[in-house]
Amino acid sequence: MIASETKSSSYFIELEDKYGAHNYHPIPVVIEKGEGIFVWDVEGKQYFDFLSAYSAVNQGHAHPKIIEALTTQASKIALTSRAFHNNRLGEYEKFITKYFGYDKVLPMNTGVEGGETAIKLARRWGYSVKQIPENQAKIIFVEGNFWGRTMAAISSSSDPSSYAGFGPFMPGFSLIPYNDITVLENTLASDPNIAGFMFEPIQGEAGVVVPDAGYLQKVRALCTKYNVLMIADEVQTGLCRTGKMLACDHEAVKPDILILGKALSGGLLPISAVLANDEIMLTIKPGEHGSTYGGNPLACAVATTALKVLKDENLSENAEAMGIIFRARMTNLMAKTSLILDVRGKGLLNAIVIEPFNDHSGWEICLMLKENGLLAKQTHGNIIRFAPPLTINASQMHEACDIIESTLLALNN
Ligand SMILES: Cc1ncc(COP(=O)(O)O)c(C=O)c1O
Repeated sequence: MIASETKSSSYFIELEDKYGAHNYHPIPVVIEKGEGIFVWDVEGKQYFDFLSAYSAVNQGHAHPKIIEALTTQASKIALTSRAFHNNRLGEYEKFITKYFGYDKVLPMNTGVEGGETAIKLARRWGYSVKQIPENQAKIIFVEGNFWGRTMAAISSSSDPSSYAGFGPFMPGFSLIPYNDITVLENTLASDPNIAGFMFEPIQGEAGVVVPDAGYLQKVRALCTKYNVLMIADEVQTGLCRTGKMLACDHEAVKPDILILGKALSGGLLPISAVLANDEIMLTIKPGEHGSTYGGNPLACAVATTALKVLKDENLSENAEAMGIIFRARMTNLMAKTSLILDVRGKGLLNAIVIEPFNDHSGWEICLMLKENGLLAKQTHGNIIRFAPPLTINASQMHEACDIIESTLLALNN
């Protein structure tokens, strides 16, 4: 038998191909270690991680304080289930609700469960507070949304690769265009049975689509005017990623329901959270919603520390500053190559749009970036998202931008 250290990337890729479901098409790199903004493959090659596990590793890989919280708590008690109380949950609930300014939190695990929870809350609030007739509650979503892969999530999707071949779908959902306030107002005005409007303040998987300035404030005002819950999916944009603690903070608006996930654990565990005030949260009664792992003591310890690290290390300020460098470098590069059609983003959630040179342009560029020591992943064929851990410093950012620049310029010539 070959020793694990000597096994090559192709060995591990073949294993996944043979024994795992084919529901992903990863960049062919096999990572075995991560620290801060870097990861290493099984051959020992070092890479800049410019995906951060889809923004779950905002605090950087293997953050020592979060690992310490994890190991200390794991050695005491990891899981109690909610059949019993544990000595971590209440402290965490107090901490996170004060941190974000809500009355209550409902802890779950994955981001998509956070979305499901938010929709259940909105429907329940619609019936018990807004007095929507039974089974008539509607939730409005926007085109291009992505909030996961469950049946409810794909039922609200406008992307055929999410929903095609998986019907029948969840009723009571409607789609309107993103970043279109007129359609939103007409929609909300036309139907008294709308309970919630769920959206991402910047669309991540759609390719880092940033709405017009003022959109969030107008959404807030319309939701208030028509008594519809504003549900912000900040699973990807939240927790300092866009240069503020929440993307909604860019316009100083507070959603009625806030969904968090990903970096809530600094990448160590699936931890999500839904925050809302009592009028909404207390509509769900004991036995009506939950999860075996939701609110487990291990997650509570990890999430508390992961949230503290965000503030202690000024990660929103750093994301803002490093994002400015990144976009300046890419805008400069755009002037040197016709390959880049657009540079967009906020903080360290950014993307470049590539002039397609074939059907797989984004994929091919990501392969070349990998060869040159930087990991990123395309979305929608020709959009490449760049989202490093928020701990990156200026010289590292310039070094990474040099890699992107030399890769694209080599391709252009
Ligand atoms: C905005 C947004 N919401 C929800 C999710 C789903 O999170 P998870 O994959 O943890 O279920 C994602 C995942 O990419 C996301 O980007």
